[in-house]
Amino acid sequence: MSSKGDLQNWVGAALTAFSLATNLEALKSARIAHFGDKSPLAQASRSLGSLPAQERAAAGKIIGEAKEQVAAALTLRNHELELERDASTLLEEVVDVTLSAARSHRGGLHPLTILTNEISDFFMGQGYGIEEGPELESEWLNFDALNMPADHPARSMQDTFFVDPPQAHLVLRTHTSPVQIRTMLEKQPPIYVICPGRTFRADELDATHTPVFHQVEGLVVDRGISMAHLKGTLDLFAQKMFGGQAQTRLRPSFFPFTEPSAEVDVFFNGRWIEWGGCGMVNPKVLIAAGVDPMQYSGFAFGMGLERTLMVRHGITDMHDIVEGDIRFSRAFGIGL
Ligand code: PHE
Repeated sequence: MSSKGDLQNWVGAALTAFSLATNLEALKSARIAHFGDKSPLAQASRSLGSLPAQERAAAGKIIGEAKEQVAAALTLRNHELELERDASTLLEEVVDVTLSAARSHRGGLHPLTILTNEISDFFMGQGYGIEEGPELESEWLNFDALNMPADHPARSMQDTFFVDPPQAHLVLRTHTSPVQIRTMLEKQPPIYVICPGRTFRADELDATHTPVFHQVEGLVVDRGISMAHLKGTLDLFAQKMFGGQAQTRLRPSFFPFTEPSAEVDVFFNGRWIEWGGCGMVNPKVLIAAGVDPMQYSGFAFGMGLERTLMVRHGITDMHDIVEGDIRFSRAFGIGL
């Protein structure tokens, strides 16, 4: 039978070993050595059975107390080491959200699409609606309704892509102005719309021309609309496109569908640049589209989107816009 001194030594050794264990793994070894089945304490406990009955109770009590003491120390140390482990896990597994992530190429919008969205957002903010029309358009809507008589130069084969068969009288629209007519035929004034879209002219692709290009049309028809409204709208539009300092200038010009008509220039980077066309909707056009010119007047404008982009970003070659090289689009901050 073990003495009381032995028990104290075993307990002391166990407590020392537990406190020296610096992690849960080490504590487990210490537990097996000092509190496991083969530990002296367990052996002493097992040997109780062989003691004479009258000694068994007293010895059992002492061994029981020793075991309780070791068990309590074990639980305490285990708890401490678990807390330490959790704290260091939190530290080690911390995620640095400022680290730059691996980037994948996800594609992006073409700069022309971004520009179209920008313009649409701006005009929607002013209460305008967005209208669209077909790219394959009737000759009547593309020309006749817009007061472009049959002998107008724009109707010659040079500029227009006519579509077979000729008796169908279909063309690839040469401008977005037919959407003006469609809108007026469908809606009653007041009309406040812009019409962005793809347009086509039989030009060779070179540094400043492309046979497939984009325009944005603006159309307002309401009571008492004047050229002052047009000028104010163009100024705001120009400032949105070219910055707060931008100014516009109207130069007298001619379009069959507006009267009076003007070219819009914008002052940008220290010089006047031709930006688009505009004017008061010709009463003949209002009549063709079923609007009473005695009650209503309107203004319209049309700008090339490629041109807007080229001016604004100093792009000197149309090929860059047309060819779809992703390095060009990326320069606009997308597709990264
Ligand atoms: N449709 C004209 C063009 O393509 C531009 C324009 C639109 C002019 C509206 C006046 C009014 O050249």
